[in-house]
Amino acid sequence: MKIEEYISTSEEETKKIAEDFSKKIKTGDVVVLNGLLGSGKTFFVKKVAEFFNLSNSSSPTFAIVNEYQGKIKIFHLDFYRINSIEELYDIGITDYLTDSTSVVFIEWGELFEEVLPKSRYEISFSINEDDSRKIIINKYE
Ligand SMILES: Nc1ncnc2c1ncn2[C@@H]1O[C@H](COP(=O)(O)OP(=O)(O)OP(=O)(O)O)[C@@H](O)[C@H]1O
Ligand SMILES: [Mg+2]
Repeated sequence: MKIEEYISTSEEETKKIAEDFSKKIKTGDVVVLNGLLGSGKTFFVKKVAEFFNLSNSSSPTFAIVNEYQGKIKIFHLDFYRINSIEELYDIGITDYLTDSTSVVFIEWGELFEEVLPKSRYEISFSINEDDSRKIIINKYE
């Protein structure tokens, strides 16, 4: 079900959208971010982490899972460089997805849709001709 649709013409507007979304989420939620390279997925997650004043507590060279800690815990996963579902099981995907104490964001989640829980947010990002971003937030129960 579509719950929000926005056009963002600046980083500042996307920051505001990310802040509004931050107020909706709770621990245990899974949020999938889909959309082409450079459409704003990482930017969005960083603004959510900033909203909660979290600091990045993972090694910058560890590209698949980023961890943000503070008042809440966010795992930020990126499936882009994952080649097979076995790799996902090797990094412990099931543990992340069932961790009721954190919020999990997954960039490029659609690449391995079969591992995703049915109940999740899905945010799609696209780039318009004028370089603005269309951001659609869906919620599936
Ligand atoms: N309205 C906007 N909202 C968000 N980002 C914008 C906007 N306009 C321009 N940008 C720029 O678009 C880029 C988005 O980069 P970002 O790394 O978030 O993309 P991404 O979707 O994560 O890409 P990838 O799939 O490669 O990981 C940033 O450089 C940001 O400054
Ligand atoms: Mg990214």
